[in-house]
Amino acid sequence: MIIDLKGIIDDDLIYTYFSQKVDHALVKASSLKSFPFRNGRLGYEGYDFYCPFLSMIFHLKITPLVSKILNKEIIPSFCFTRMYFPGSKLNVHKDRDACEITVSHCHYGKPWKIFILEDEFITQTGTSICYEGIGKEHCRIFPTISNTLYSFYHWVEKDGKYEEFKYDTSEKLEKIYGQMALDKSYI
Ligand SMILES: [Fe+2]
Repeated sequence: MIIDLKGIIDDDLIYTYFSQKVDHALVKASSLKSFPFRNGRLGYEGYDFYCPFLSMIFHLKITPLVSKILNKEIIPSFCFTRMYFPGSKLNVHKDRDACEITVSHCHYGKPWKIFILEDEFITQTGTSICYEGIGKEHCRIFPTISNTLYSFYHWVEKDGKYEEFKYDTSEKLEKIYGQMALDKSYI
């Protein structure tokens, strides 16, 4: 389902931050590889950022609202932000167990169709969709025509079947999310 997170997620800041990192990686030696990542199985090319601090901040910011919308207590598992390069697709797949609840949010991009089982949605700058990625196959069969930036925020349900995958089973991630939540100045 489409949900509205427009008032919470700062797409302009996030796009500016990550496109700066990608621009830098493409021309200079940096902490990122200077060539973009090619994922043959899923059919995309770009850069993946696993749990960047900026994405974690917004992950925590949207958690209460997503919890309220779903009427469930939820715990972050992980998040990542991905810059898709032109020509990228997303082949049919299901997500792993830490992705019981997913919000896919477009920070920057032209309208792009996603299929989730028999449902289809169009996402573009500012659009968020919430879905259960473990059980439901999803894909984007039409290629992107320009650089496109998405974040994927994942949770598991408290006391639910997948709770063991909270914080992506990482003590370090648990510590970081926990510290951030304690110090409200971050979120
Ligand atoms: Fe997925």
